[in-house]
Formats: sequence, structure tokens, C-alpha cells
Amino acid sequence: MGKPKISQTDPVFQQCISPSCGATYGIDEVRVACSKCGELLDVVYDWDSLRVPNSLKTFEEKWSRRDDPYCVSGVWRFHELLPFVPIRQCVTIGEGQTLLLPADGVAEYTGLKPGRLYLQYEGLNPSGSFKDNGMSAAFTHARFVGATRAACASTGNTSASLALYCSVTKLMKALIFIGSGKISYGKLSQALDFGALTVQINGDFDDAMARVKQVSQELGIYLVNSVNPFRLEGQKTIMYRVLEALRWEVPDWIVVPGGNLGNSSAFGKAFYELKQLALIDRMPRLAVINSTGADTLYELVERRGFRWNHGSPELDRAILYYDEMDAAGRRADTIASAIEINRPVNLNKCIRALEWCDGVVRKVTDEQIMDAKAKVGAGGLGCEPASAASVAGTKLLVAEGTIEPDQRVVCILTGHQLKDPTATVAYHTTDQDQFNKVLGSRGVRRAAFANRAVAVPNNMDEIIKAIRLYG
Ligand code: F0G
Repeated sequence: MGKPKISQTDPVFQQCISPSCGATYGIDEVRVACSKCGELLDVVYDWDSLRVPNSLKTFEEKWSRRDDPYCVSGVWRFHELLPFVPIRQCVTIGEGQTLLLPADGVAEYTGLKPGRLYLQYEGLNPSGSFKDNGMSAAFTHARFVGATRAACASTGNTSASLALYCSVTKLMKALIFIGSGKISYGKLSQALDFGALTVQINGDFDDAMARVKQVSQELGIYLVNSVNPFRLEGQKTIMYRVLEALRWEVPDWIVVPGGNLGNSSAFGKAFYELKQLALIDRMPRLAVINSTGADTLYELVERRGFRWNHGSPELDRAILYYDEMDAAGRRADTIASAIEINRPVNLNKCIRALEWCDGVVRKVTDEQIMDAKAKVGAGGLGCEPASAASVAGTKLLVAEGTIEPDQRVVCILTGHQLKDPTATVAYHTTDQDQFNKVLGSRGVRRAAFANRAVAVPNNMDEIIKAIRLYG
């Protein structure tokens, strides 16, 4: 980012993230990559010619304007920080009314002191995941360019969000690509119910992603996956809401699950821009958590030293890794189906965010994920497996001494508990076959925090006996 290489007079434009290329494009162009070098694109603002508040407190003024949907939206009440079209042209269905809650029970589990762990609960979004933040921004851009159809590949939440925005706004028709058997029922049911054209291809998310790119190019369909730079603008606002809830104090750590790496990329950009604008005085550290069954980022960053290097990453390292993965026939496999991804599309933006935020990457097992998920559920919020990777990752980082027990940590709970009831019920079940089928097959040996249903005969005495015994 920073000043464009090629002269650009508009205050907002798209720019290749590679500093050695730096090509720019107008925001009226629909692109998912630089046509010169193939890198990802950013939405870049010439802040000097835009009206930016000089203090984050200014946003508090919007709290009193509950009759204005743009002030209610947790995305658009921060419009001044993503002003790619005028506010009255922005699309909202009420996304981003989410919560940051302290969670002492979960803090204790992770080894943090009371009052130091917060959960940012994105499950409260209209479609039940953080994706709606980005979808409102992608839809805003899609309407701006006059798109009539939108497509995505998905592990389930992007598709649920796209389908919802299409059904509510009627602005576009939804086309969804999913891998076969790779998406949880909660999410699949949303796409079907909302009426999206759902194409189940024989393959996994990465296959679906490759196909949807081809299809959308061939048929001129607007792509809403996170390679779309406008989508990530919406996801920046998750961090603005975290700051808002902390009364604009920057936490020490943001911990987020890593799949296609859109969130981590967007979070890095959010903080980078706020720092540039002198709206914050320091950057938080970022921890991105992979599942051991889908650990591309971990392997590349922590084991093979893949770094952004101020804009000169050694791209061969990633290519070599992917070649090895293909040669060995290795494919992602994790109970956290949302992050079951081999080739994260935002890899290079994510390593840039890691550089900006002095970030780390860790991986956690499916057993650690499910245990952390049970702790989150018992603490009152509940989340889907992928989201709990953030809590399991925090526990790991505290245990190894990277996060100190009195540091202030925000874990992002990316998706609602009801997105994947199969995993939850399998964890708590007494049915060994069901446990083995769903969890045992993924290396989960036991459910340490299972809350098992108590089977009793339909008899008053027996029922009361059971309540006295277990209650
Ligand atoms: N958590 C949940 C619940 C998700 O659905 C996803 C991604 C992630 C975490 C990972 O986020 O891609 O920004 O690193 N889901 C995408 C989808 C891939 O298709 O719904 P990321």
C-alpha cells in the first residue's frame, strides 16, 4: 500500500499488493487479481482527500442514530474507514451487530487471568457468521458495477451469506460451488433454503474455488470470495467493533482461525490503516490458528520461513510446498470444515499482515478444537468448530509463553454454534459409533468436557432419581 506507483487521480482505487508492480485500477473494474503480475489487489484510499475523523471516538456519535440503518450496521457505521462509494449507495441488511464479551471461564481454560480474555462473537450476524461483514461490502461494490449474478466457492459460510444477501436484497442471483460431502448441514440448509443455485462438485473446497474462478470469468459473474478486495474492506470492521467495545484501546493480541486467510488479511489492513491515520498508537499482535489437518500457513510460515519481506516474498517456497502436497496426494481433513483448505487464496496478504502485526501462526488438533469448543459453549456463547481454534490456539500460546497471562486477548468466534450440530452432538454423545464416525476418524480420542444426555425410563421415580443424582 502507500502511494501508488502509477499516477492515480481518484481518491479510491485498486492496487496490486506487490510493491514492485503496484499497478492501479479504478474501482469500477471487477478484478480478483492484478492483470500485470497476477498478485492480489487492495482497495487503497488517498486519505488526504477524504474526510476521515481525527479520533475514533467520533464514531460514538452514531450510537444515538438508531433510526438510520447505516448507523445500526456494524459495517457502515465505520463508513469513513472504507469509503469506496458514498454511504447512501451501500448495501446493508443489518450485519455486524455483534458482541465483544469477557469470558472468564474460557480465560481460565486458556491460562489467562480473569478479565483478560474477550470473545468477539460474530455468530450474531444475520447468516450466523462473520462473512456478512464482507458480503455487505462486496454487494455494495457489485451494485456499483451493475452486476446481476454473484458466485462463490465455499466451505459453507460464504455461501450461506451470499444466498442470504441475494434473497433479502434481490440485487443478484446466487451461484454457489461446494465440495461434495464437505459442508456441514447447518450451512448447506441455509444456501438451499435461501434459494441459491447450489452446484456440488466432485472434489473439495480447493477444487470448487478453482472452478468458480473459471466459471465466473467465462460467464461474467461477480465473484464474492475473499480474493475480491472489496469484501475484505467489510471484514476490517470486525476490528473496529473490537476497538469500539474496548473503548478504543488496542488489545495485546487478536487470535483468529485461519482458512482462506481473508480475516487475518483484513485485520492487518484495518490496523495498518488506523496506524497510518494516527487513530491508534500501536499495533496489536496477530495469531492465526490452523487446524493440524489443514496447516498450509503454519507449515509455510513457521517451518519454512515464508515471509512477506517488505513486499518481496520468496514465492517459490509456497509453490514448492504445493507441489509437494500434490505429489504426496495430501488433502486437508479436519472436523473444522470451515477451514479445511489446502491453498489459502489470501496467503500473501496474510503474511503481509503477519509482518505488520508481528504475528505468529500455530496449529491445533481436532481434539483441542473440540475441547475448546465445549468450553466456549459452557461459557455461554457457543460456536462452530473452526471458531474454537482461536481459543485452542490461545491456550497453546499461553502454555508456550508467547502470550502472557495478564495480556489482553481477543479471540474471534467466527461462526454460530448451530452451523454444525453434527460435530457438537458427536462430541457429547454416548453413542460410540457416532463418536468414532465423526470425531474418532479424525484422531479425537476422547471428549474431555462431554455433557452427556442421561437416559432414563419414562417413569416419575426414575426421572427424579436421575435429577437428584446428576443435578
Ligand atoms: N471460521 C469460519 C466459521 C469460516 O467459515 C471460515 C471460512 C474461517 C473461519 C476462516 O476464515 O478464510 O478468513 O481465514 N470460511 C470460508 C467459507 C472459507 O467458504 O465459508 P478465513
